[in-house]
Amino acid sequence: MSAFDNKICLITGAGSGIGRAMAVGFAKAGARVVVCDVNEERARRTAADIGAAALAVTADIGDEAAVTALVGTAIDAYGRIDVLCNNAGIMDTMALPADITLAEWERVLRVNLTGTFLVTHAVLPHLLRQGGGAIVNTASEAGIRGGAAGAAYTASKHGVVGLTKSVAWAHAKDGIRCNAILPGPTMTGIADGAGFDPAGAARLGPVLALGERLAQPEQMADAALFLASDAASFINGAIVPVDGGWSAA
Ligand SMILES: NC(=O)c1ccc[n+]([C@@H]2O[C@H](COP(=O)([O-])OP(=O)(O)OC[C@H]3O[C@@H](n4cnc5c(N)ncnc54)[C@H](O)[C@@H]3O)[C@@H](O)[C@H]2O)c1
Repeated sequence: MSAFDNKICLITGAGSGIGRAMAVGFAKAGARVVVCDVNEERARRTAADIGAAALAVTADIGDEAAVTALVGTAIDAYGRIDVLCNNAGIMDTMALPADITLAEWERVLRVNLTGTFLVTHAVLPHLLRQGGGAIVNTASEAGIRGGAAGAAYTASKHGVVGLTKSVAWAHAKDGIRCNAILPGPTMTGIADGAGFDPAGAARLGPVLALGERLAQPEQMADAALFLASDAASFINGAIVPVDGGWSAA
């Protein structure tokens, strides 16, 4: 028996980086995986690489109707959802509170926080009906620190941490666990097309230097697999840095 045999995992942002590593990792551990990404080509590629155990679904997690369709597709295909990894997220431009525009604020909050909420909100009724399940949210070091990103990303990831605790507190009695990982700087495509202006790019350098070394996406996936597994059966509401010791300094 593998840890996730017969389990159904829904992973957002699974077309690239950490989410892709999660999808591959859960599939290797026996799960069937719903590979969600806003980018159709990326979702298809991850699912094709996994094979028959994966189902690609294109959805924007910031769009309520798309999220309803996403969860409906997963339930139609598999009848249940055992693990939800709210992983999709976007970087901000590293703009500081005095400089950020409302458009930038709303763009980032819509995906990182509202999107995480929408998918959680749509999946919870199924976890309640089934009598339990596990949620792993991908927050960030910027979810507990003020100097790891710009204002919008920092606020959005603090929000993800708060939502994680709210779900854990509200649904512990229902057999639902909700935890978050806080990745340190990780080798993914998240900075591509983030739209850093020169000042934003200059601010990112020291943040990355603080991380000292970049993690591989699989190191984040390993932590998510553990938190979603029965080995973590009494871990609920935990906010887990996965940063090689960066936040310990
Ligand atoms: N890479 C890092 O250094 C780092 C550090 C801390 C936290 N994180 C977090 O890790 C998570 C994954 O990021 P990554 O680094 O793997 O980035 P990535 O850009 O490689 O992958 C993110 C994926 O999410 C998808 N996505 C973006 N918006 C979406 C939406 N609205 N709906 C559905 N899918 C969407 C993208 O198309 C992409 O495939 C994010 O939440 C990010 O904030 C990353």
